[in-house]
Amino acid sequence: MERDQSNDKMLARNRFLLLVVVGGAALAILSLSLQFLNLIPTTPIVEERPFQAADRVVAVALGKSRKRVFPVPHSEEPNHISEAYGYCNTPNRTEQAWEGHSPADYKLLSVQVMIRHGDRYPLYSIPKTKRPSIDCTLSTSRKPSHPLLNSFIGHMGQGSRGHWESPLSSVPRLPNHSACEMGELTQTGVVQHLHNGQLLHHAYKRHNLLPSDWSPRQLWVETTGKSRTLQSGLAFLYGFIPDFDWTRLTVRHQWSTLFCGSACDCPARNRYLEEEQRRQYRFRVADTELEKTYVDMARTLGVLTRQLRAANPIDSLLCHLCHDLSFPCVPMGDTGSGGCLTMAQFAVIRRQQLDDEVDRRRMGLYRKYAILAMYPYLNRTATKMERVAKASEAGRQPRAGGEEVFTLASAHDVTVAPLLSALGLEEARFPRFAARIVFELWKSPPVTQGQAKKKAGKGEKSKTKDGELFIRVLYNGEDVTFHTTFCRSHDRHTSQPLCPLKNFLSFVRKDMFSVVNATSYKEACYRRPG
Ligand SMILES: *[C@@H]1O[C@H](CO)[C@@H](O)[C@H](O)[C@H]1NC(C)=O
Ligand SMILES: *[C@@H]1O[C@H](CO)[C@@H](O)[C@H](O)[C@H]1NC(C)=O
Ligand SMILES: *[C@@H]1O[C@H](CO)[C@@H](O)[C@H](O)[C@H]1NC(C)=O
Ligand SMILES: *[C@@H]1O[C@H](CO)[C@@H](O)[C@H](O)[C@H]1NC(C)=O
Repeated sequence: MERDQSNDKMLARNRFLLLVVVGGAALAILSLSLQFLNLIPTTPIVEERPFQAADRVVAVALGKSRKRVFPVPHSEEPNHISEAYGYCNTPNRTEQAWEGHSPADYKLLSVQVMIRHGDRYPLYSIPKTKRPSIDCTLSTSRKPSHPLLNSFIGHMGQGSRGHWESPLSSVPRLPNHSACEMGELTQTGVVQHLHNGQLLHHAYKRHNLLPSDWSPRQLWVETTGKSRTLQSGLAFLYGFIPDFDWTRLTVRHQWSTLFCGSACDCPARNRYLEEEQRRQYRFRVADTELEKTYVDMARTLGVLTRQLRAANPIDSLLCHLCHDLSFPCVPMGDTGSGGCLTMAQFAVIRRQQLDDEVDRRRMGLYRKYAILAMYPYLNRTATKMERVAKASEAGRQPRAGGEEVFTLASAHDVTVAPLLSALGLEEARFPRFAARIVFELWKSPPVTQGQAKKKAGKGEKSKTKDGELFIRVLYNGEDVTFHTTFCRSHDRHTSQPLCPLKNFLSFVRKDMFSVVNATSYKEACYRRPG
């Protein structure tokens, strides 16, 4: 396993170097493979409700609708069932991780990661049926397991030595119910993030991103107040820095699922979301096959159709699928009810979700919502990069305690999906369990000037020009930088194989608002509806 992975990485690295050297031809191959990966079938979706107060309007509306980011299904009939397995993200295979790849001699300055929590128990239950039987306590004798699982459990037992922003100190640090509670992280979810963390640990090891004696300021961890995000973040962190020193860790709380900190107020954002939800509603009720499927399912269960719809059955069915449990059944009743929910019904709901994705992209309302929803997070991301870049300037005295070089935000699908959309990654698959988005900041080696141009006579010393700054964006280990809005048109064939940081900065500070016909967050948020 280990060996395969490092082979893959060497291969990947060689390929990257080849790209840098050979240029055009290699690029063609690479972009072909990127395109291919983008076509890989994706996954179904379940929304989670943002429970937070400022988004209450949104929360209510969301109860009736789904939000997802999906690729267009291509030509032949897609297999909705195998797509669903992709969403489960069952940790039973090695995958490529392109994090940490760069041209030789480039220096990695910072990494900012946003994750979606791992596999969880459903948030809804299907009326009249038994809830899926899943044990949420952790045990190495259960599958899937991980070599770090036991030491992780032990380490979490010392969590009181860490610093917790209120109200996080009262959130359990491990899932620990023999019958999972609604929304609880499962062992699969813990293992997914131990794995993710370990993957990045290996990817960044040789870049010395975090020194072994890292200071509290160098590591920033933030999470929403849900146990599944907090626990996912801790599992990721443990995989990334095994046996990390609790006393140096502060875990910060984000009260909004949008990670918008103190800049959450944005009336226009909520208007776009409401419009998007109306679109989604109209689109759904126009789907007669879907409506018929809900009627059939409700008849089987002996409940009202609207009762079934409100129970969002896809959420629970996905859990059955991911945990290899057969779909729920009810005994035969006298009113024609009885029987089991079927894969065929599941596939219809899934098919409609994919169609909805296509319609959503076409209408563009979600994109507008996403731009406003994710600006505060992107603005913070950009600001951190600038700060680290500044500190890296030649001749600067390093600040005591260092700079924030690693950031982890442990979030939800309703965070990751708008982030993808805001970045212009609208074709990306909907965030599966334990999905990850990574922002890397790179600096090229310093250039010595004055050697190339020989200035005759003037006895000058050659001047060293500081290296330039670049950004990479990765989604689930894939380099998607050149699919983003801000680097899609960058000419990689030139001397710059990476995307300049300034593209990202100008996107975040101004360009992204062109989607909503504005030049700033404030203007876009507070403009009167017209
Ligand atoms: C991993 O698990 C999924 C879902 O159970 C299954 O479809 C897939 O074939 C498995 N892959 C491997 C390599 O075992
Ligand atoms: C988990 O729950 C069991 C039983 O309720 C308890 O004995 C154990 O101490 C708990 N473990 C942790 C780490 O909270
Ligand atoms: C964006 O970041 C800048 C710092 O670079 C900060 O001054 C500004 O308040 C931020 N804006 C919002 C809306 O968060
Ligand atoms: C965009 O905004 C400008 C200035 O606020 C306004 O004049 C123009 O009509 C707007 N365009 C659209 C398409 O809304």
